[in-house]
This record gives sequence, C-alpha cells and structure tokens, in this order.
Amino acid sequence: MIKAGIVARLPKVDLHCHLIGTVRASTFAELARRGRLALPDTPERIYAGCNSLPPDPELYRDTRIPVPQGRSADEPEISYSLFQLSNWVTEALRDADDLTRIVYEAFSDAHTSSATRHLELFIDEPRGRLARLGYPALVEACADGIRLAEREFGMSGRLIAAIDRSRSGEQALQWVRTVVDHPHEYVAGIGLDNLETVGAPELFADAYRLAGAAGLGRTAHSSEHVPAAANTITCLDLLGCERIDHGYFVLQDEAVVERLRAQQTPMTVISTTSRRSWRPWRRASINAMLEAGLNVIAASDDPGMFPTTLAGEYRILADDLGVSYDRLRRMSLAGVDACWLPAVEKAALRERFEGELAALDAEVSAD
Ligand code: HPA
Ligand code: ZN
Repeated sequence: MIKAGIVARLPKVDLHCHLIGTVRASTFAELARRGRLALPDTPERIYAGCNSLPPDPELYRDTRIPVPQGRSADEPEISYSLFQLSNWVTEALRDADDLTRIVYEAFSDAHTSSATRHLELFIDEPRGRLARLGYPALVEACADGIRLAEREFGMSGRLIAAIDRSRSGEQALQWVRTVVDHPHEYVAGIGLDNLETVGAPELFADAYRLAGAAGLGRTAHSSEHVPAAANTITCLDLLGCERIDHGYFVLQDEAVVERLRAQQTPMTVISTTSRRSWRPWRRASINAMLEAGLNVIAASDDPGMFPTTLAGEYRILADDLGVSYDRLRRMSLAGVDACWLPAVEKAALRERFEGELAALDAEVSAD
C-alpha cells in the first residue's frame, strides 16, 4: 500500500476536466441566488443529487464486464443529470468576471487538492448570456483565470474547445471555424462531449478536419456510453484524435485493445463521474484497461459536481485497484507527454516532474 501523502503529492497533469463541471456548489449557490435562477430545489441539494441515469438500460444487457442494472443503496431519491446541472450552472453565469472566477477556482482547487501542475479545461460554445460576450472575449476571460493561477500557484493551463455532440455536424463546424478564426495561445485543441448515444463521432468529421488543418490537438469522449469499441476507431481514424476520453467499452473488442496498446494512445479515465451504481463497473473497466497495458491516465472530469478530485482518482487506483507507486509514477509522466503545451514548455514541465518524482522516490524507497 502506498502512503496517502505520497499519492497526494505526486505531481499530476489533468487532461480531462470540464470547466462547468468544476464549479463549486458554493459558487453555484451564490451565482444562482444572485440571478434568481428558477430551480426545483436548493442549489446545494441539486448538487447532492447529481447522478446521471443511463440513456437506455437495455443497451447494456450484454457487455464483457457486466453493467449494474438496478439502483445502488447510495442512489439519491431524486437524480439530476450532469447535463441538467451543467445547463443550470451555465445559466447562472453572467459575464467575463464570472468566467475568470470559475477558471481561477478550478485551478486553485486542483492545486490544493491534487498537486495538479498542468490543467487542460474543456470549455463549451458560449450559450445564454455568455453568447453575447462573443468568443474572443470569452477566451480572454478564461485566459485571465489561467494567468492568475500561473502567477499564484506556478501552474500551467490550456483550454480545449468542446463540441456538444447533441448539436448538428454543421453547428459543430461553425463552432470550430470560430475557434480556428480566432487563434489564441491558450486554446490548444478541440474535444467532443455530451451523450455519446445521441451524436456519433462520424457526424463531426468536417469540424475535426478543420481543427486538424489548423494544427489544433484533437480528443473525443468515446466508448463511454455506447457499448462498442467502433466509435473509438472512428475517433482515431476519421477524426484524427491523438487522445481518447473515457474509452471503457473498447474492452468489448480485443483487436481494438491490441491496437490501443500498441499505439499507447493516451486514454483519460475517471472512476467516479458516472451514475453511482455504475462506479464499481468503471473501476473494473479501468482495472482491465491497466492490465491490458493501455496508456491509462486518471483525470477528474467534473470534480465540482461529483465527489472526486484528481488526487482522489489516483487514490482509488492505489487503494482499491492495488496499482503500484511505479505505475502511478509512469502515469504522472504520461500525463506530461500527452499534454498540449508547446514543446519547450512541455520539456520544462517534464524536468520539473522528474525532479519532484526523484524526491518522492527517495521517500518511497526509505519506507
Ligand atoms: N461525458 C460526456 N459529457 C460530459 C462529461 C463526460 O464525462 N462531462 C461533462 N460533460
Ligand atoms: Zn468528460
């Protein structure tokens, strides 16, 4: 067993974290009350009820690792999906200062809870009042939050423009065109999120092509809700993704697992950010991915809305799955290698990690 302090202090990179999903319950409560947002319950109780339900339980009847069908004892009486919650949080945001604040708080929380040194945040296409800001002002507001974190915490950060897969391919293309037409040093790539059963990856081929031609990094949530590995192949071959977010259902297909192992495609995984009854299934899947030799990198996803942090995700691997210090150490460096910083900054980050890890190695071997 690795000592708790070691896992907490292991330097980390978080490659899969949604800005809206980082918003603290207390910040949401303050902003929702300020805006007199009409909500079905108090902000605190809504956050406590965050529990996405599966799109269609029938889909998961026949999976290699059985997906729990019933409710677990800790399932809340009233559930609010992550997507519903994200809509309310977005509605509560008013202006550039709100954005700078939530970005700063995301970095601050990651720094304090997890020794996160570099954080890449998914940002959505602006909606509601934020749409009036316009994309350049929205990105600048987020960049201001990152700059504060660079100065105060010595962290680095980047933004990833996320395509909402419930939108059409044409809408996604327009969004990516906006991103490409306004290049910004802090916007490093694009991603694809929301419910996978609703938006197949091939719908977004044009948007991904445009991003690739502009030199942006490409990642996508894949094989998360659809119990098949085929979407991940589409993400790699058609969309040109160099990273995959989630990817648990790649385990359905041995040949796909073999390819991902051979390529060592970085795959960001999160144990906690699913329906509560599914969490043991996620852990079992991550365990199988590790055993298959995949380049699995723990991430935090939506740490404001679910009871987790990046360090908490590493701790689950260490304590519940018995992952060794050596393996977590490799994961920490794999996060650096897979991040979307420019080469010079990435090399500096790697050097910093190697220094911090050498100090931890000495502590671990002295035990
Ligand atoms: N999957 C899909 N959509 C999301 C997620 C996720 O993990 N987090 C926030 N939006
Ligand atoms: Zn996600």
